[in-house]
Amino acid sequence: MHDISAIQDFLACPTPTQWVEWALQHPETLLIDHAHCEKKAASTAINLMFRYVDRPELLDALSRLAREELLHFEQVLDIMRKRSVVYDHMTPSRYAGGMRQHMRTKEPERLIDILIIGAFIEARSCERFAALAPHVDEELGRYYKFLLKSESRHFEDYLTLAKLYTKDDLSERIAFFREHEKLLVEGADTEFRFHAGVPA
Ligand SMILES: [Fe+2]
Ligand SMILES: [Fe+2]
Repeated sequence: MHDISAIQDFLACPTPTQWVEWALQHPETLLIDHAHCEKKAASTAINLMFRYVDRPELLDALSRLAREELLHFEQVLDIMRKRSVVYDHMTPSRYAGGMRQHMRTKEPERLIDILIIGAFIEARSCERFAALAPHVDEELGRYYKFLLKSESRHFEDYLTLAKLYTKDDLSERIAFFREHEKLLVEGADTEFRFHAGVPA
């Protein structure tokens, strides 16, 4: 299994056990929202490729990342079909929007913040797959462990790009989002989602 200690060190807190229990009570929502998250991850990367055409390293890394996310999307759809889970629209959790709320609007700060937020979303996803893997059935457990590898690479890709595009020391900005991410993850939510906090 991939070493996720770097991911756990990057995050301020582990996923609360209440969230894991909540996920196990909503296996269909977990799969449907997971499919949405993979699709959204691809679309976020592609949007950045449209906005920052003058950043070759970003184009290379995010084009590959977007292809991997779409592949994950297809794999989750496949698992859903095998289990007769019907794909449907789903309201997003407050997590990604809550992170973006603190994005600076001036460039290049805006880009740096988006890349840091991307690193956190990938890191948290990776950490959640690791937290879920021992508790789900064999097929899903195997699949989640497989996903750890690419999601931890995506985390590194976003972080590498953020460091590449600024001369500033990022530790303060990363620490700011780390604290904010912890509040979102430990906060209460009324509906279960992949990036939800704990049940209200
Ligand atoms: Fe993915
Ligand atoms: Fe990813």
